[in-house]
This record gives sequence, structure tokens and C-alpha cells, in this order.
Amino acid sequence: MKLNIAVLPGDGIGPEVTKQAIKALQAIALEFDHSFSFTHAPVGAIAIDETGNPLPEETLDVCEATDAILFGAIGDPKYDNNPDAKVRPEQGLLRLRKSLGLFANIRPVKAYDTLIEKSPLKKDIIQGTDISIYRELTGGIYFGEKFLSEDGNTASDLCLYTKTEIERIAHLAFKAAQTRKNKVTLVDKANVLESSRLWRKVVTEIAKDYPEVTLDFLFVDNAAMQMILNPNQFDVILTENMFGDIISDEASVIGGSIGLLASASVGDKYAMFEPIHGSYPQATGKGIANPIASILSAAMLLDHFDLTEEAAVIRKAVEKSLLLNITTPDLNTEHTVSTSKVGDFIADYISNPNDSNLN
Ligand code: IPM
Ligand code: MN
Repeated sequence: MKLNIAVLPGDGIGPEVTKQAIKALQAIALEFDHSFSFTHAPVGAIAIDETGNPLPEETLDVCEATDAILFGAIGDPKYDNNPDAKVRPEQGLLRLRKSLGLFANIRPVKAYDTLIEKSPLKKDIIQGTDISIYRELTGGIYFGEKFLSEDGNTASDLCLYTKTEIERIAHLAFKAAQTRKNKVTLVDKANVLESSRLWRKVVTEIAKDYPEVTLDFLFVDNAAMQMILNPNQFDVILTENMFGDIISDEASVIGGSIGLLASASVGDKYAMFEPIHGSYPQATGKGIANPIASILSAAMLLDHFDLTEEAAVIRKAVEKSLLLNITTPDLNTEHTVSTSKVGDFIADYISNPNDSNLN
């Protein structure tokens, strides 16, 4: 297969982890006789520095002209502590999601047996966890009208959803549940929010099209507690934009490191693959960032094009690196391996599973 992939490394550790994902994809291309090409484009703080715009027109053009996008990370502390900044790196990512219509963000969360001791949660609680979070990505409070009064003393963000926005992601969540354990949990705050009540109504209606799937409801505060009390109760979690953002960071504790969590953001036309972690500015250039979330995002990219065997090969190589403790300091404080060495091991293992160099 021929694939043109846009690479948007972004800020902080974004470039270094994305590089490892590309290594894995190149190894796959070689092994399976595919042709993958990569076109790099700036986004985020780096793009602001270069052009004044966190999502330059040319970057959007590159994304629209390619088959898929591999995204790194976004954010820079110089904006985080400046509430008056008019232009912010995050706007680049949000505009990208909105412009490309990437309304569904899929975030798989798994407890790896080899890492079971790394999680601060008890083994008995997390063992066997396998959750797929379906986070709505282009609506809700992230994109509702914003207001700041002239005197600067009053501010608001509107949480708005339409039936259509809820329906399209709900169908994806139910379809995913059909291939898994046939359960969807809608996470909302329907005891307080009108928008959540609309979610319940619309999702309940859609559930009738999927009679074999059980639909459950949880308020987000309770869901946050259940996530670490009994994560095995979940199969597919369906939720709105901000609840999904929060719940998925919380869920990453189950796997032992946020550096493991990949995601796919899909719409009707485009698809983007990105780790759920941020730009981790303190780690930039130190070779300590975990590249696995980015590498597993590349596996999700392959799945998206039905290259399931190839995706499985990447996942197997990742699991091997975890099993052999060839990992960055977030998972292994004793014999840590650098970001690029982890990437090299995984790429080598893809090419040569039998005699990969352990170092
Ligand atoms: C994520 C990130 C983004 C979000 C930020 C960087 C805008 O936290 O992808 O989860 O809030 O969606
Ligand atoms: Mn987030």
C-alpha cells in the first residue's frame, strides 16, 4: 500500500517521540513491501515562533493533501503561565481537529501484564483492564462561544451540543462495542447539565439499533471514582469532549504511564494519530520521553487502513520491549534506555524478531 503521511511533530518531546514512530513505520514498510512517505509541517508553539500562527495555512494544506496525520505534542510553558496570551499553541491542535472534522477521539487503555507492578493501583484491581474511550472531539465546552467582560472580571465558555454531533460518535462507539464486550457506558453529568440530558436522550435512542449492546450511564464524578476502583467494569466509554479529556488522563494510571497511551482522531474524511500525553517540556531533548504512545499511535494508523497484521507486529514489538524492560525512566528506574534506543529496539524487532539486539 502507498500512504502519504503528514508528520506534525509540534513542541517539546513531540519531535523525538514522533521520530521513533516513523522508524517503526519505515521498518513495517520494508517488511511488508509498502511505500510510506512522510511530509513534515510545523504546528503549535514552534509554528507561532516561525509564522505567528499555531496552525499555518500550509500545514493545513499538507494535512488535507495526505492520507493520514501523525501528530506529536503541543504546548509550551511560556504560554501556560500567561493568561493574556492571545495566540496559544493549543489553538493549533484545536483548529486542526475542527477544520478536519475529527469528531471522534478513540483512546484505548490497557493493563499490560508485564507492567502490572508499575501502576500505583493494586494488581487485582487493574489486571485484565481493556477499555476503549470514545471522546467527542469537536464540540462541547472546548468550542462553544467564549466571553470575557471588558473589565476582565467575568468570563464564560459555552457547552453546546447538537443531536447530530452526539449521534455520529455514538454510532462509532456502539459499533466498536459490537467487536468487543458489547457494553457502552455513557459518562455525563445529566443530573446537572442540559447538554448531558440531550446526550442521554440521543444515545438511548441509538442504543435501540444495537440490541446486543448494553448501555449504562454514569455521572462523571462517579465515573472518575469507578475508573480506579473497578476499571474492569468498562468496555467502551462514550463521553463528551472535556469529560473525555479528564477521564483518559486518569485512565492512563492503569497502564502505569501516560507515555503508553495512543489515540486516533477520526472524522468522515481525515484521520490523525496522536499520543494522549502533552509536550513534557522539562524532558525536551533529554532522551527520557517514552516513545511508545507515539509508536502505538502509528499502529492505530495502520489499523485505520486495515493493515491489521502490520499493526499487530508493531504491538508485539512494543510488548517485547516492555517484557525485556527496554524502557524509559517513567517505567523503569534502574536500567533506563533512551527514547531513541527504545525506538531502535522496536524497529529492529519489527525487522528481525529472532535476533534483535537487546541493547
Ligand atoms: C489532549 C490534550 C489537548 C486537549 C490539549 C493540548 C488542547 O490535553 O489531546 O488530551 O485538551 O484536548
Ligand atoms: Mn488531555
